[in-house]
Amino acid sequence: MVKAMRKAVYPGSFDPVTTGHVNIIERAAMLYDELTVCIMDNKAKKGLLKVSQRIELLETALMGIPNVRLDVWSGLLTDYLKENEMRVVIKGVRDSVDFQYETVMAQINNKLLPECETLFMLSDPRYAVVSSSAVRELLAFHAELGDFVPKNTVEPLLKMLGNTQS
Ligand code: PNS
Repeated sequence: MVKAMRKAVYPGSFDPVTTGHVNIIERAAMLYDELTVCIMDNKAKKGLLKVSQRIELLETALMGIPNVRLDVWSGLLTDYLKENEMRVVIKGVRDSVDFQYETVMAQINNKLLPECETLFMLSDPRYAVVSSSAVRELLAFHAELGDFVPKNTVEPLLKMLGNTQS
């Protein structure tokens, strides 16, 4: 009997990708045959980077993880799942604020598509305060990005924004 490929999607706005995202991706990729990292719209957020720039940074950050693929979707997450015959969604959860927000999202998605399963992966405490919004704030003040973004993405990210670190 041919075993079905176990697939999951890790959706997000990745504006830009952070070390916290990469940690979740590495861990989730170990649990599935194929993990799709999908750039989606978050209507509540004002974007900093173009989708093409987010892709470039994700490609750089995820180099060397063989079973991860990248995708982009501008519709509902549940429509993406239907279109791709997937049902498992991975979400990283740092704290109770994330948990509350993601619980509502998971329940909405479950109403839209009952077979959709959202799995919460607890963030490694090393990345507890790492977020794309914090990175955007640091960038706005020309501050050091430290270990908030993967090392190999710092230069391309600063270049994209015509930014220099002071
Ligand atoms: O990285 P983010 O910004 O927390 O990711 C949120 C994202 C993009 C996964 C979420 O906003 C999303 O699923 N957007 C697609 C539209 C959708 O399905 N919204 C939820 C149902 S109203």
